[in-house]
Amino acid sequence: MCGIVGYIGESQAAPVLLDGLSKLEYRGYDSAGIAVYDGEQIQVQKAVGRLKVLSELTHDGATMPGCSGIGHTRWATHGAPSGANAHPHYNQSETIAVVHNGIIENYLKLRKRLEEKGYQFRSDTDTEVVAHLLDRYYKGDPVEAITKIMHRVEGSYALGIIFKEHPGHIYAVRKDSPLIVGHGKDGNLIASDVPAVLKYTRNVYFIQNEEIAVLTGETIAFYNVDGEEIQKGSTTIDWDINAAEKGGYEHFMLKEMYEQPQTVRDTLSPRIKDGSIVIEELGMDEEEIRGIRKIHIVACGSAYHAGVTAKYVFEGMARIPVEVDLASEFRYRNPILMDDELVIVISQSGETADSLAALREAKRKGVKTLGIVNVVGSSIAREADRVMYTWAGPEIAVATTKAYTAQLIAEYLLAVKFAQARGEVTEAEVEGYLKDLQRLPDQIEMLLSNKERIQHFANRYIAAKDVFFVGRGIDYAISLEGSLKLKEISYIHSEAYAAGELKHGTISLIEEGTLVAAVVTQENLYKKTVSNMVELTSRGAFVLAVTNAGNREIEKAADYVVYIPQTNKYFTNSLAIIPLQLFSYYVAVGKGCDVDKPRNLAKSVTVE
Ligand code: AGP
Repeated sequence: MCGIVGYIGESQAAPVLLDGLSKLEYRGYDSAGIAVYDGEQIQVQKAVGRLKVLSELTHDGATMPGCSGIGHTRWATHGAPSGANAHPHYNQSETIAVVHNGIIENYLKLRKRLEEKGYQFRSDTDTEVVAHLLDRYYKGDPVEAITKIMHRVEGSYALGIIFKEHPGHIYAVRKDSPLIVGHGKDGNLIASDVPAVLKYTRNVYFIQNEEIAVLTGETIAFYNVDGEEIQKGSTTIDWDINAAEKGGYEHFMLKEMYEQPQTVRDTLSPRIKDGSIVIEELGMDEEEIRGIRKIHIVACGSAYHAGVTAKYVFEGMARIPVEVDLASEFRYRNPILMDDELVIVISQSGETADSLAALREAKRKGVKTLGIVNVVGSSIAREADRVMYTWAGPEIAVATTKAYTAQLIAEYLLAVKFAQARGEVTEAEVEGYLKDLQRLPDQIEMLLSNKERIQHFANRYIAAKDVFFVGRGIDYAISLEGSLKLKEISYIHSEAYAAGELKHGTISLIEEGTLVAAVVTQENLYKKTVSNMVELTSRGAFVLAVTNAGNREIEKAADYVVYIPQTNKYFTNSLAIIPLQLFSYYVAVGKGCDVDKPRNLAKSVTVE
């Protein structure tokens, strides 16, 4: 995610802004910038790369005198990492500067309207639209201008704003992106997150959705979306800086798990407009989609597991053949690729060596390529013919969670799009898919809220030696991911098996008390998987079942049951993974493992 800071008070603002941004570096970024009012103008300085480049450029802020300003670390979502795309962004006359964290979903429409009115843009970002909108609606009252844009902008935002004509103030407003206000002894601050202000104050206000904050060096006032002043209470933060970077969570992995409702929403919402799926970045019209005769999905690790899910969803929904390959295999097997096929490379980092090499192999053979990538401007994002971003924000923990569930969302959207173009679904079915997709964030939130039960169960298995995950169809795909999560962070041996395959050898490993997690969400396969569960329990296994709410029958065949809310059969992986993530996390914590940085692993495997 981007990070924003702001300061106004008696001290020089630039050093405070740079210090605050340094405390937000953990959020991941590719460029940074600050804007300071120097008594006459709003000075802006930006730099691509690490924050120290910006610090060196400004001599640690000394070249930017002034006691009020805003700053930003950018995690690119719209527009590659560049000086032009870095924040802060000005309006044309440079009398307003803005920093932004979030996604303006209707920025293209707003940009088009502004350009028709003569506004000229300097960047490819969604944020710059806000700067010009404020310019359009500012008639002397900043709060009035801010409320006006709040009624026009769709999506998520946390904004820090300074107006040249109001030098003694800085302004902030949020919707769905985090923003806090700090009340210090020699000045007041805004920030995306607590770590940026802790050096100056522990007395903070958490801004709620659609609330505006107006700061002077001494005072802080709050307003609602109608411009009416409101009263707010402050909170004293007692976290230490290390805990604060994790938002109060013990590990980045847990924090990122709990970000999933929002990151699923961020990946989904901008691509559903007026009841239709809009994937502009796909760059294919319905006829071109119909011309695709086969899809190859290539990836590594969890991204590969997302690809296995995609096979079931695409083939089931769109009736298009899908072949899924481990990238490390694909690149050396001289794959047979035809020019009416599509190769989709899935990668969180966009830098995985095997996946990048597979992409280049596909391009060498002249086949169309699409990247599903989380890091904007990464190698795979740049080299694929087209890229569909998963807007999960930077993922710090080595074990992926939010990027994986965002990859599932991207796949579902593509599958529905392909099914529609190929005439494989009715409009009523599409309406049902979209309704179920839009319910997933709240359902994920509900599953995360009952972590205690999973934590209690996990504590019983911290000494486990072998754990198996089984399922049929799409439940096999999620079993692969559940198994990898457990082994990579708890170091417990685990295997995922197609439930129907167990009796062909592996069932010989089942002993008294061996834990087997059976994922059973596919109605047409319940009975088959239940009979596999009975085979297991009759050989002494302890079976944990993950199944749909209401399927109480399964309690006869399982020793422990976790229910997931009802959703479309194609989307159950997005819910079943949540208890499996929590289970793995609490087993690893119980074992005292380094959850965020497991031994032998790297966040991005950029070597073969
Ligand atoms: C997942 O938890 C692992 N960190 C690993 O399997 C990862 O999914 C794999 O290395 C692929 O990485 P990528 O998505 O960045 O290409």
